[in-house]
Amino acid sequence: MVGQPTQQMALQRQEQADCTKVYMRDMKRALGMRIVIIFASVFVVFGAIGAEAKGLEKEMVRHKYFMEKGLPEKYQYITPADSSSAEKGKVIYAEHCASCHGVDGSGNGEAGNELYPLPANLRKMAKMRMMGDNFFYWSIADGGEFIETGMPAYAENLSDAEIWSVIAYIRNKI
Ligand code: HEC
Repeated sequence: MVGQPTQQMALQRQEQADCTKVYMRDMKRALGMRIVIIFASVFVVFGAIGAEAKGLEKEMVRHKYFMEKGLPEKYQYITPADSSSAEKGKVIYAEHCASCHGVDGSGNGEAGNELYPLPANLRKMAKMRMMGDNFFYWSIADGGEFIETGMPAYAENLSDAEIWSVIAYIRNKI
């Protein structure tokens, strides 16, 4: 009669111990899964950030080049041609640039929408004084072959006065 309750208690204890074991095992599994999920998410997030940074780097390739190397010497001290005019620039822009940079300069021209990086938003760039006129001149004259972009070089096709005219138009009238 004395052994009965003790046996029962022992049984109960055993059950409890089993229960705890199962619980601990499940917890470990759940925790393991969570850790796997956390690591996977971290990889995905960092992967995405990496890809984003790479994309941004390509989009900013001209600005990056400019920041690191500055302008080629021959464009450092140029000044606008006397005969330049924003009115002439408007005609040149419509003929040579609007197809890619868009009629209003926002970079949405039909001919440019397959390019990567996309044609620059000249409306926005024109307001950034940091990008001086000689930065624009360099971009237009030399194009983007050396940085692997689709911006054509106009040094051969437009005269000095024509390039300054189109810059005057972009800066003040677009
Ligand atoms: C075939 C499409 C195309 C045509 C046509 C074109 N561009 Fe571009 N342009 C681009 C692309 C793409 C970029 C961005 C990559 C780069 O900077 O090289 C660009 C960049 C520029 C930039 C640099 C802006 C900045 O701040 O990064 C200027 C300035 C510019 N273009 C002016 C012009 C002017 C002016 C004309 C016309 C005389 C013109 N572009 C014609 C495609 C074009």
